[in-house]
Formats: sequence, structure tokens, C-alpha cells
Amino acid sequence: MRRGDIMSEKLIAKIGDTVAIASDHAGVKYKSILSKCLEELGFEVLDLGTCDEASVDYPDYGHAVANAVAGNRASAGVAICGTGIGISIAANRHKGVRAALVHDAFTAKMSRQHNNANILALGARSVSEDTARGILKAFFSTQFEGGRHERRIEKID
Ligand code: RB5
Repeated sequence: MRRGDIMSEKLIAKIGDTVAIASDHAGVKYKSILSKCLEELGFEVLDLGTCDEASVDYPDYGHAVANAVAGNRASAGVAICGTGIGISIAANRHKGVRAALVHDAFTAKMSRQHNNANILALGARSVSEDTARGILKAFFSTQFEGGRHERRIEKID
């Protein structure tokens, strides 16, 4: 990944911004991999746990990352569990949060262009490590298109 990919003002997070990241036990390895990628891109990483593979409950971590984004402690978030399903469901209970569960770089890109997603959710058991890195890069290097998509997003909350 290159820092030059994330220079635009219209992206969800700019160099130096804080990005919150959280996972349950199933996603802890991917959390470490993706935290490193975020640091390489120039973001400050706010790690909200979990910190090891002891079994925990994914809603606690989905709520933690959503609270950080909704409370403006982070510009964007990354949420990981086994499938990404449970943690994205929990995160999406928060007003102003648009957590997108994506499976490849294409859906990551679309979640930014059309949905202005502010939390990237993925499943450590459903995508490879390389795919996860590609997803992260696509998410943080893609701008929201605005226009007709703005009206649709306003109808969500
Ligand atoms: C944990 O075993 C698993 O249920 C969780 O990581 C996630 O996939 C839930 O949606």
C-alpha cells in the first residue's frame, strides 16, 4: 500500500486521523495484520480489543468500534469477527454508523462510493489475509460519490 493512495480530502480518513479497530477472538490475528496496514498508511490506530484468542462476545466489540466512530473519537472503524456478520449487525445498531460487511475489494469500494460506509466489517474465516489487505486498501482509498447517494443515505437513519 502507498500513502499517496489516501491523500484526498474526500476520503473517510486522512493521514494522521484515528481509525478504531476491534475484533472478537476469531478476528484477533486479522486485527493485528490490518492494524499494521493502517499504520503503514499513516493512520493512528485505536485498538479496542480483544487482545488474545480467549473466547469473547462479538457484540461488545462491535459496539466499541461503533461508539468510537459515532462519538467522533475515530474517523472510521474496522470490525472483524469470524464471518463479519455478528459484529456488523451490532455496529449497525448505532445512529450514524454505516458498517459494511464486505468480501472483496469490489464490495469494499462500492461500500464507500455508494454507501459512504464508515466502518469496514470483514470475516477472518471468510476471506484470506491477502484479500483482507486488499479490502482495507480499497476501503480507505475510495471516495464517496455523493449526489443521488447522499439522498439515499439520509433515508437510513
Ligand atoms: C465466534 O465463534 C463467531 O460466532 C463470531 O466470530 C462471528 O462469526 C459471529 O458472527
